[in-house]
Amino acid sequence: MANKQELIQGLNEDLAAEWGTIIRYTYQAANSFGIVGSELRAILEREVQDEIGHAAFLTDVIVDLGGEPTTTPDTFDKPKDIKQMLQFDLEMEKQDVENYKKHARMAEDLGEIELKVKLEEIAADEDRHAREIRRLLKGL
Ligand SMILES: [Fe+2]
Ligand SMILES: [Fe+2]
Repeated sequence: MANKQELIQGLNEDLAAEWGTIIRYTYQAANSFGIVGSELRAILEREVQDEIGHAAFLTDVIVDLGGEPTTTPDTFDKPKDIKQMLQFDLEMEKQDVENYKKHARMAEDLGEIELKVKLEEIAADEDRHAREIRRLLKGL
């Protein structure tokens, strides 16, 4: 059974991942060229808005739980090749889905029902991002 400190720590790991994703997608959008690149750029620009919303939500929740929200992003690899870039993004999105599912279960254990549902919604957003990236990868 998880305790509150473990939940705060888990949410801070999610938050560091979100900050990293916001920077990664902005960086990748600027480095996306050609026909596939312009489609990728449009998708990344849209997804980054979701990630900003996730980061803002997590920051609020961590404060509400009495924790200190991280402002330090996770670092990331910078493949220049579009296919490698997308494969990397897909792995990161899949990892995010698993982390949010795990932390939703922790929130449920602690009786934090709103948080549990919101984390599942975020997991669903990341799953959708993974699906969009998988569709792009199919064409490469
Ligand atoms: Fe996110
Ligand atoms: Fe995402």
